[in-house]
Amino acid sequence: MSSPLTGQFPTYRPRRLRQSRALRSLVAETRLSVEQLVLPLFVRPGRKLRRAIEAMPGVFQLSPDELVREATQIHGLGVPAVLLFGLPASKDAKASGAHARNGIVQETVRLLKKELPGLLVITDVCLCEYMSHGHCGVVRRGKSGPRILNDPTLKLLARTAVSHAEAGADIVAPSDMMDGRVRAIRAALDQSGFTETPIMSYAVKFASAFYGPFREAAESAPQFGDRRSYQMDASNATEALREVSLDIQEGADIVMVKPALAYLDILYRVKTEFGYPTAAYAVSAEYSMIKAAAARGWIDERAITMESLLAMRRAGADILITYAARDVACWLKESPA
Ligand code: PBG
Repeated sequence: MSSPLTGQFPTYRPRRLRQSRALRSLVAETRLSVEQLVLPLFVRPGRKLRRAIEAMPGVFQLSPDELVREATQIHGLGVPAVLLFGLPASKDAKASGAHARNGIVQETVRLLKKELPGLLVITDVCLCEYMSHGHCGVVRRGKSGPRILNDPTLKLLARTAVSHAEAGADIVAPSDMMDGRVRAIRAALDQSGFTETPIMSYAVKFASAFYGPFREAAESAPQFGDRRSYQMDASNATEALREVSLDIQEGADIVMVKPALAYLDILYRVKTEFGYPTAAYAVSAEYSMIKAAAARGWIDERAITMESLLAMRRAGADILITYAARDVACWLKESPA
């Protein structure tokens, strides 16, 4: 058999398969579907609270009751999962709120699993929202300035993950980027009897300006310095593969690349190299940039959002974590992509 590429078929015309929507859809290599979406949600103590996040139009800090309402709606649209971030009533230097039995995330998980047992609840496991200094780990202030301590942080992360599992979390998602945290969390979960609770690790998390609006949303901006001593350098791609390899060896079930759109090369390499279930996190600024330009009428919000998510799927993402999940679910109902 000759290949069209050898020139044996001079009549081969790719355009033939592009002449109608139905035809294009028939031969589409990649699709978006609502089953792939995860919506991040921010919860804070209170009742009937919907506090707008200025830099992320359409995203709110919600009290648990409002969050359940929101989750019910998006679950009704077919979105299978939410990713929970907590804003505690108070912060300290030990991140006590992160692993408290009655912490804001733990209470909300219990409520969600009671009201919506079919909804997958993923919890972000990190300390920055709970630390008075806003860093993702334990800080020691020394002569040469403050340092983030890796190993003492692991204990707190493991305790946090177990407390989420005890509350009923379906998946725990460590986002701190300390070395060895997947192993520590896996061991702690297993010891506590949660051998079946999967870990979705933020395996590749770059130190990124694309997290800017999130830090307003989660009130988690570092009070000094930055996160470059633990998050990855944007220059590095093979290091990203090493990070993924380590997390898989330590027991990660799903690996994540974050941010998404500016790191599609990484996503592609992670998926092809390891073949693991892979998530892409379209982070806060990816959302805000589209919203801001769309508000001025400069771009088509729907088309750009769908095209961006399709690019992540093409690059290898199985799971799409996006603040636009609700809009996307509605758009997909109107016309499939
Ligand atoms: C917590 C965390 C961050 C994000 C997810 N988990 C912020 C950070 O690392 O500073 C960013 C998500 C987003 O920008 O949407 N460590």
